[in-house]
Amino acid sequence: MTHALWNLVCLDCGTVYPGLAVRFRCDCGGTLDVVHAFERHPARVDFATMDQRLGSFGAGDRSGVWRFREWVLPIDPDRIFTKPEGNTNLYDSRPLAEFTGLERLSLKHEGENPTGSFKDRGMTVAISVARVLGMTSVACASTGNTSASMAAYASECGMKSFVFIPEGKIAYGKLSQALAYGARTIQIRGSFDAAMHLVEEVCRERSIYLVNSINPFRIEGQKSIAFDLLQNLRWQIPDWIVLPGGNLGNSSAIYKGLAELRALGHISKLPRIGVVQAEGANPLYRAFASSTPLEPVCEPHTIATAIRIGSPVSWKKCLRGIRATGGVVEQVSDQEIMDAKARVDGAGIGAEPASCAAVAGIRKLVERGVIGRSERVCAILTGHVLKDPDAVVGYHRSELEGIVPRFANPPVSCEATLAAVLGAMDGTA
Ligand code: F0G
Repeated sequence: MTHALWNLVCLDCGTVYPGLAVRFRCDCGGTLDVVHAFERHPARVDFATMDQRLGSFGAGDRSGVWRFREWVLPIDPDRIFTKPEGNTNLYDSRPLAEFTGLERLSLKHEGENPTGSFKDRGMTVAISVARVLGMTSVACASTGNTSASMAAYASECGMKSFVFIPEGKIAYGKLSQALAYGARTIQIRGSFDAAMHLVEEVCRERSIYLVNSINPFRIEGQKSIAFDLLQNLRWQIPDWIVLPGGNLGNSSAIYKGLAELRALGHISKLPRIGVVQAEGANPLYRAFASSTPLEPVCEPHTIATAIRIGSPVSWKKCLRGIRATGGVVEQVSDQEIMDAKARVDGAGIGAEPASCAAVAGIRKLVERGVIGRSERVCAILTGHVLKDPDAVVGYHRSELEGIVPRFANPPVSCEATLAAVLGAMDGTA
């Protein structure tokens, strides 16, 4: 049986559950980890196997998640549902290296996934497992990207999907996707944290499969960011991987993937993990700075709506990774996020505000001497620039409250005459 190849284990009390079960928490309330029995796998795979698969036309091999299937989740290949995801570009940007004070900066653009964010990597695994389990409905609470991803995957494989979002607090690109892909979209008059709490209850009440990152299979898929990144780097280990933190699933996943590669003997050291939070939604930053358990932030606020989260579900998993790698947590203001975003966008790469928090955080960490200027740093850009058009247009039109648009590129209007157009082009109109 396939599921003998892994179990679900409680992070808090160590209780072990069978690998294939509709279960999202331990009976004690703790979150669950997939613990693999890699030694039971029939075939050993290594970096050369993964490189060979790059030249294959097999559906699994073409996905930047399932190419690493033995390390992700060894389910029956016929049950895999993939769009396919991953294989995102790693950009080296001179202007952004200069902006952050580094000699070199690489940016892994997860916004290049099928629905425009890294969530697709976790979703392909969660939806595939949902199919194995015979589930026909899925649900999530979301700040937007998870819902966009879930809606697309669920529709394509004929499942019903329910989205719970904080009303008025998600970016338009993401709301558009949930509606367009046909999810039943429920706007809660409350925060993401309230929606998260409710969706757990709803899924317990009805037979609906929860695909938030509390679902341990989401984390298994998101580990592939680390595998795909290392493959981009020809299996060299960077000094740092820096990414934004919200519900804290992604940072947990990247650490877990790397720790497993080390346990398997494929790599000998781990990069340090830097998690960046927005100042107004910084519960992990506070917990890390004070070495105390996480205290939720009651009314989180930030322009980076993707990470407007006060009570992150995966904080323990995330801190485990930060501690094990000698990592850090940084916080950045909305002004710093939007300054960084203007530079990321202006460099022709582009990303949504939350993603750019990572770049703003790197700049601060270099300034503080935590990251050395010559260290090899990879930032994870988590979402596409078009996810949040209001933030872009509002910034360049100087319409964002409390933000000084230091790098504004406002549109200019002119009469429909040649003289006026030429004047507008020269900036003299
Ligand atoms: N960046 C983007 C673009 C996101 O959408 C999210 C999370 C994060 C960063 C933070 O990742 O939660 O794993 O720490 N978005 C979730 C959602 C919460 O519902 O789309 P995390």
